[in-house]
Amino acid sequence: MTRILFVCLGNICRSPMAEFIMKDLIEKEGISGRFFIESAATSGEEIGNPVYPPARRELSRHGISCGGKTARKMQKSDYERFDLLVGMEESNLRRMRTICGGDPDGKIVRLLDFTDRPADIDDPWYTGDFSTAWKEILRGCEGLLAYTNKGV
Ligand code: 4NP
Repeated sequence: MTRILFVCLGNICRSPMAEFIMKDLIEKEGISGRFFIESAATSGEEIGNPVYPPARRELSRHGISCGGKTARKMQKSDYERFDLLVGMEESNLRRMRTICGGDPDGKIVRLLDFTDRPADIDDPWYTGDFSTAWKEILRGCEGLLAYTNKGV
């Protein structure tokens, strides 16, 4: 069982998109039972709120539902609960390390570092570009899936 927590600032745009894209990829491969996947925020701003409508629409355009998901804040205890804690950009990783009191096991990683073009994923909350966010997150999740298929 591979346990993955996707993390962004608000947990209403990028990390829930990553959560439901990854769930869709593993469902299509018939390997859902091998994973436990959630998403969380580094900030408390949006706690309890549903996925931001433009992010929800982008998922839905690709046949993916995210119904029932509400934002939650990442906890220090998540460090033990998950094998990989996957942030969207460097600033997420810094805040994740602060919440966890460090990263002794090297579990805190950046999504696009699983691709051949490592980079931050710009926050569509600010850019308004949910289609680019979709493409980048999908590319990252495909790379992450290939990595986990080799055995985390
Ligand atoms: P996310 O986007 O980190 O991709 O979920 C954001 C959503 C909300 C806020 C910031 C970023 N906010 O400040 O409320």
